[in-house]
Amino acid sequence: MQIKHLVFIAILFTACSVQKKENYQSIITGIPWYIEDGNNVSAHGANIIREGDRYYLFGEYKNNENNRFEGFSCYSSSDLMNWKFESNAMPPNKSGRLSGAECIGERPKVMKCPTTGEFIMYMHADSNLYRNPAVEYAVSKNITGPYEYKGRLMFGDTYIRRWDMGTFQDDDGTGYIIMHHGDIYKLSDDYKSVVAQTLKHDKTLRTESPAVFKHNGIYYWIGSGLTGWERNDNMYFTAKSLAGPWEMRGVIAPEGSLTWNSQSTYVFPVVGSETTTFIYMGDRWSFPKQRAAATYVWQPLVFNGDEISMPVFHESWTIDVKTGEWKDVPLKPAYEILNGDDAVKYEGSWEDASGDNTKSKRANTKDAIISISFKGSRIALRGVASIDCGYGHVVIQNIKGEILHDTWIDMYSNKTVEGLQYLSPVLPKGEYFLTFSPTQSHWYWTEKSGKQWGSKDTFISFSKAWVF
Ligand code: DGJ
Repeated sequence: MQIKHLVFIAILFTACSVQKKENYQSIITGIPWYIEDGNNVSAHGANIIREGDRYYLFGEYKNNENNRFEGFSCYSSSDLMNWKFESNAMPPNKSGRLSGAECIGERPKVMKCPTTGEFIMYMHADSNLYRNPAVEYAVSKNITGPYEYKGRLMFGDTYIRRWDMGTFQDDDGTGYIIMHHGDIYKLSDDYKSVVAQTLKHDKTLRTESPAVFKHNGIYYWIGSGLTGWERNDNMYFTAKSLAGPWEMRGVIAPEGSLTWNSQSTYVFPVVGSETTTFIYMGDRWSFPKQRAAATYVWQPLVFNGDEISMPVFHESWTIDVKTGEWKDVPLKPAYEILNGDDAVKYEGSWEDASGDNTKSKRANTKDAIISISFKGSRIALRGVASIDCGYGHVVIQNIKGEILHDTWIDMYSNKTVEGLQYLSPVLPKGEYFLTFSPTQSHWYWTEKSGKQWGSKDTFISFSKAWVF
């Protein structure tokens, strides 16, 4: 090979390694995740399936204004940490069910049918205000879609007129639809209809957001209490057969932690050469800013005999997809900026606060704003989330004043807890200026019954910034 070719390859290699920009070296809970272009990963009520060497994440593709159906998104990853947007795998239909404006679509789950090789997406489809629910399905030959909408999943001449749903594929390839309040339906060989009801309104399983998985021959059912999008202590149940009897086993995270502030959606087993780690996948909802501010709570499940738990909160952890092993990997900033430091400029009314053993400053007025200049390639914000917190507005500018990131984060937590609130996408190494201000708004939700959930005020809190 000639020298000039070697030089060309060397330049190309350097360019590629400079361009390769991975946002995450760990799975981080409770902050919005961003893809390379700075947009949010928006895949709630999600599930993951593996195809070849890649993992595919499907979920509700949300907006920041209302609860309208925007389609079901598909992202892919090789490491379960950095996600690439693949497609809006089932965009809204042109008319009728799941067509947008007056429709709701939730909790999509994709399974590959072993007999046909097709990918089948199941979903909760509904009319506005959740008055006409049904389990429906769509089919694609390609995992990333587009999924062809087929309508209701039929069971003879009837259908499943219920809402929160999940899927489960047993070791023998049989597919099941699992429903809130303890219904399980067995799918046909082509996964396109129901052939039997395996479990009917099981009184023990009075939960929403069901997630079923199997470990050492035992079936596990995780589900949430009935509090709409508000977090609660999710419970788990076990059985030797899907048909039951199901036994209530208790909470999956310490009581009062509200399942580390989340609602279950799926459990994904990462099968490696050394072990299998079961990832609990939960949502931290945030209506109406679900696209920007709803986050993900993914935690490794710990087994003790046939008991499961998430006894300790792992803010930042990794999984080796080859071996299946996981470990904590705390974030290591180059330097930190504390709330009283000169580097932080406060304007407007900020009050001192100490919650969850952390000194912080908080504000909820229109004139309040924090600004921080920093040198590095990314920044994180920490603060104390509590019941009277709301949405904060984060903006990052470069020294030319160009806006590089502009987003909202949700600081609400029913339980007061100090934590990571924001981690910017990776920026080219440089000098930047961040502002953080209250928006005087917060998440809320009014149920069909008229019951209100959400924050009581619109504070934001700042305890420190980490610069990387
Ligand atoms: C509870 C469900 O679990 C959520 O997915 C969502 O549908 C809310 N209800 C809406 O109230």
